[in-house]
Amino acid sequence: KRPAGAPDKSLARKVTKVGIVGAGLMASQMALLFARRLEVPVVLTDVDQARVDKGVGYVHGEIDKLLGKKRVSPDQANRLKALVTGSLDKAAFADADFVIEAVFEDLGVKQQVFAEVEEHVSAEAVLATNTSSLSITEMAAGLKHPERVVGFHFFNPVAVMPLLEIVRADRTDDATLATAFAVGKQLKKSSVLVKDAPAFVVNRLLTRFMGEVVKSIDEGTPFEVADKATEPLGLPMSPLVLLQLVGPPVALHVAETMHRAFPDRFGVSENMKRFVEAGKAAVWQWDATGKQTVD
Ligand code: CAA
Repeated sequence: KRPAGAPDKSLARKVTKVGIVGAGLMASQMALLFARRLEVPVVLTDVDQARVDKGVGYVHGEIDKLLGKKRVSPDQANRLKALVTGSLDKAAFADADFVIEAVFEDLGVKQQVFAEVEEHVSAEAVLATNTSSLSITEMAAGLKHPERVVGFHFFNPVAVMPLLEIVRADRTDDATLATAFAVGKQLKKSSVLVKDAPAFVVNRLLTRFMGEVVKSIDEGTPFEVADKATEPLGLPMSPLVLLQLVGPPVALHVAETMHRAFPDRFGVSENMKRFVEAGKAAVWQWDATGKQTVD
């Protein structure tokens, strides 16, 4: 059944090579998924060799885990490893027909990335973004071919979470959108078409939800109490553990975007801001027993 709002699948273009900008955790998880499900070459790029190597190393490590669990054969594992390569140079995207960026959550940075990628790919290559909150229309503005830009938003952990938010920007054309849906299907994700609105749908809910839990801690509720109080909701993971999984800097960026868009409904936790701005990777740390310590 065609997902609501998806164009006819006959408009989709075939994807024979994937480029990924960024080699962080989410990008690396995406690289593995694309290689595994599309069985096409995937190139990861980043700003320095150490990051590129770390990303490719993560993918190889995950393939070894799949091999250990007998989810892939030794032959498949070798093939998958050969499909995922790293490069410092976006010229490696030359024949890629689907490039997705998963760099720092900043509009200017993402616009610059797309402008650079556009110099190396064909006029029809899809430029997808894994942004979790920024405007896709603004990201496409200024490009030579804004009609090939689409939102393609995964959730953590990428290998496990079934949903994919596909976002149509003002100028996204049907062929681009149809390609995005076709790729989503190949990845075995459940794709939904969402409006190009701040944080789309999922993160709008999640940010508000996490924000209220964090705010209760800012107001003096002990961490353990705030964490335990969400138990009756029956979530697979408490909002505070989820915050750790998503990464406090990312969560803070989303919260700030939402605060700018809807100041009456979204706040930004002062504690979280202070810790992230001080360069701490995590707001809260858990010890082996699951008890938190504030860093
Ligand atoms: N990376 C890769 N695979 C992972 C993983 C990870 N980080 N964490 C778990 N998995 C895999 C495990 O390997 C396991 O796979 P197999 O069955 O193949 O062995 C499977 O997931 C289930 O794992 P577990 O049995 O260990 O754990 P679980 O049943 O407790 O499930 C979970 C783990 C799926 C992460 C679950 O806790 C969950 O659904 N949590 C909520 C996640 C969520 O809400 N994500 C959305 C985040 S918001 C976001 O990402 C948006 C954004 O833009 C910021």
